[in-house]
Amino acid sequence: MSLEAAARNAPVGRRRGRIAKGDERPATGRSHARTVPSTGRGARPTAGPTHPLAAGVRGRELLMRCRGSGSNRRAAAALALVAIGLAAAAIAYASGGSRSDAPDTRPVPRRLADTGLYSDFASRTVDPSNLHYSPQYPLWSDGAGKQRWIHLPPGTAIDARDPEKWVFPVGTKFWKEFGWSRPVEMRYLERTRQGWIYASYAWADDGSDAVLAPAAGMTTSYEVAPGRRHAIPSVDDCLNCHRGGRAEILGFSALQLSPDRDPLAPHAEPASEGDPTLATLVRLGLVRGLPRRLLEHPPRIAASTPRGRAALGYLHANCSICHDSAGPLRSLGVSLRHSLRARRPSDEPAAAAIGHPSRFQLPGVPPGQSVWIGPGAPASSAVVGRMASRNPIVQMPPLGTKLIDEEAVALLRDWIEQDLRPPEPYHP
Ligand code: HEC
Ligand code: HEC
Repeated sequence: MSLEAAARNAPVGRRRGRIAKGDERPATGRSHARTVPSTGRGARPTAGPTHPLAAGVRGRELLMRCRGSGSNRRAAAALALVAIGLAAAAIAYASGGSRSDAPDTRPVPRRLADTGLYSDFASRTVDPSNLHYSPQYPLWSDGAGKQRWIHLPPGTAIDARDPEKWVFPVGTKFWKEFGWSRPVEMRYLERTRQGWIYASYAWADDGSDAVLAPAAGMTTSYEVAPGRRHAIPSVDDCLNCHRGGRAEILGFSALQLSPDRDPLAPHAEPASEGDPTLATLVRLGLVRGLPRRLLEHPPRIAASTPRGRAALGYLHANCSICHDSAGPLRSLGVSLRHSLRARRPSDEPAAAAIGHPSRFQLPGVPPGQSVWIGPGAPASSAVVGRMASRNPIVQMPPLGTKLIDEEAVALLRDWIEQDLRPPEPYHP
């Protein structure tokens, strides 16, 4: 049985959940999340229930293994379907390679200083051969400020013949720094012959050094809010996002680097002078094979209002990493991923989410009337309801964030309420 078939066969009645109004605890004692077996993957950011995706799937819920590991971690990555009572069917990767009790065999340096980012670590001088860039639609990470760099080995180029899935040469490296009042974490990806290696480096509180975080993840000392400390995800969690859809690299793509940048994109860092755009990358020969039409008409989300464009861009960056017609969640029937082929608002795949019934039952909405996106009705739109929650088994995204993205929730609400209003009834 395929994964998709398993998702279809999961009883719909068991997929209903409820948001506890104004409360971060689960609404009822029906949560099965507490009984999801512990995976021994080390420190979890919060005690108590977690979304099944975040809780891991090793154990009796593991229904099937269906994808081999793309990296050189020894154990095959497993893709599994978890059905639980309160939230829904959930999908996750479980990888023996990142268990906290197994030796860490990732062939990456133990210190950030040795990864090649800096030409001089003492003065934190970044090697000029590493390109700084900023995607127009960033991932929300509890308000972290971010810096990103890419390194391509000399003489190599990115193959962009499939513009929705760029292929990066062996030796490519990405760094992504997370910082608030100080740098806290540096995420790292390196392309080897076997695939991408995932690692993260934890900065010391005084910024003196950054060392490899355990594959099981760790909680840092930095508080994103009183009592809520920033957690470095486990490698399993990296994979849940980075292998949830079509492409493993999420923020270095035609749409994300388009020179036609969206001025309303939430939390976007303005591109620094010298940051490459699509056109520069092609001119420098670093991106090859990109269809010409994308240079003549730089990628841009088609929407009927500027707010709609920003809302769809947000969903693309933050949600389509899992909610993609090419990913394991395609059986949910909704893709939130922008398509480079979309020229009109109705061509955007997310248009299909408008009015699409949700299996997730929102509080106060009559049974069966919750939809993904309800024109004029943010209260019955599951997309908003789940973004506006940090109850661990309700929140979306399920991983990597502890604080509600209030700015994005407001954007989505306004767009749904004011721009997507159903047509006025006709009174002759
Ligand atoms: C909640 C989902 C999520 C998790 C968990 C996650 N990432 Fe990412 N990551 C993203 C998204 C989305 C982007 C692109 C947007 C951006 O850069 O803000 C990204 C970008 C990156 C980049 C820059 C290259 C790229 O793909 O655009 C690196 C490096 C990276 N992540 C490493 C990691 C590592 C290592 C982990 C685990 C320790 C991890 N990520 C966990 C979603 C995630
Ligand atoms: C790391 C993967 C991942 C990311 C990222 C993610 N989701 Fe989900 N989402 C899931 C899974 C798994 C389910 C099914 C289980 C559940 O309902 O909890 C789901 C279910 C949903 C549902 C209920 C659909 C239905 O009909 O049952 C909505 C609505 C939703 N997500 C919205 C979002 C939004 C909005 C975002 C971005 C802000 C987002 N998701 C990001 C994994 C993800």
